[in-house]
Amino acid sequence: MSKCVLVTGGAGYIGSHTVLALLENGNEVIVIDNFSNSSPKSIDGIERICGKRPTLIQADVRDSLALESAFTNHDIAAVFHFAGLKSVEESVQNPELYYDENIGAALNVIDQMRIADVKTLIFSSSATVYEPSEAPPYAEDSLTGPKNPYGQTKLLIEQILTDLAGMNPEWRIGLLRYFNPVGAHSSGSIGEAPSGEPNNLMPLLMQVGVGKVEKLSIFGNDYETPDGTCVRDFIHVVDLARGHIAALRFLENANGAHIWNLGTGVGTSVMELIQRVESATGMTIPTEVVSRRQGDSPIALANPSKAFNDLNWRPEYSIENMCIDHWNWQCLHPDGY
Ligand code: NAD
Ligand code: UFG
Repeated sequence: MSKCVLVTGGAGYIGSHTVLALLENGNEVIVIDNFSNSSPKSIDGIERICGKRPTLIQADVRDSLALESAFTNHDIAAVFHFAGLKSVEESVQNPELYYDENIGAALNVIDQMRIADVKTLIFSSSATVYEPSEAPPYAEDSLTGPKNPYGQTKLLIEQILTDLAGMNPEWRIGLLRYFNPVGAHSSGSIGEAPSGEPNNLMPLLMQVGVGKVEKLSIFGNDYETPDGTCVRDFIHVVDLARGHIAALRFLENANGAHIWNLGTGVGTSVMELIQRVESATGMTIPTEVVSRRQGDSPIALANPSKAFNDLNWRPEYSIENMCIDHWNWQCLHPDGY
């Protein structure tokens, strides 16, 4: 079997760490990215770390001709599909954009894979597909019910891919539900560098740390959680990337569609994360408690047993590693790449 993997969105945050993991695993890698939320410099960072470079195609993943020529010119065995839009807030303001981009991209990937007779696909889904009122931790069979258009696109794509594998048993599909990815490669050569203003907790904490943002707003401290702030399952992005390699290995011997939670099963509150960042960086993070952010679940926690058992995968990095590595990346790249 050829070991060439096509990675859509491979210049982005999770994609770049996964491209590195694939290259380190001995795979040949083709990246398709339009750099709408990333920089080609992430590819240089990958090369600095491992001495290898993926083939880079600058194109929109909805561009049928670009995908078709990628499949024609390379002996691709599997596709990792990361490309898409990912802001919950933006999706509420502009739902059509999210349905158009995310569903359109997935349908084009499936279509071109079918034409090229490539039938192994790993898709970036999200913990946001779970119904927030379900009691955490969430297992893969917990009730789903996303509360925003972004989450709806993830669940719809999961459904499309599950139906596809149901009708065509030779397809091998991994649906990976990520919890809260943070951290960066320990070298500081690749990391999270969103194009606009960040609205996720860890990148904002880092921006407060380097003095770009005055203080961190804590969205509510009156939740029914141990310290009143929300609890999340933070996972180091390098562990997340390793999870993709484990899923690819699993799919070599299994067909059908398989869902796996990629989380640690360990919850950390917003307040705890702030304290962990403070002790990892030696800084004091100014904070202010403000009202709850609409749509936030008090607790989002994975039951990762299925991934542990099926994939023989375990997260290796602690919260401390996540804070140190993210901070190291931020200090080396205060303005992104
Ligand atoms: P990211 O924005 O850093 O990476 C996405 C990449 O896809 C970027 O490089 C972007 O330029 C590219 N891209 C976007 N639209 C494209 C298009 N039409 N054609 C070609 N390239 C395109 O995001 P990320 O954090 O690395 O997320 C990767 C995937 O994981 C996304 O599908 C996201 O929804 C999913 N996910 C992310 C998180 C998270 O918290 N980061 C959580 C759950 C799921
Ligand atoms: N938070 C703050 N202040 C901030 C930003 C966030 O208190 O300035 C809090 C939020 O209220 C929430 C927690 O930090 O309780 C985490 O918020 P993030 O925005 O970092 O992450 P979410 O859990 O809301 O969502 C993230 C991704 C989604 C993904 C989901 C999976 O943004 O794309 O994780 O669980 F689907």
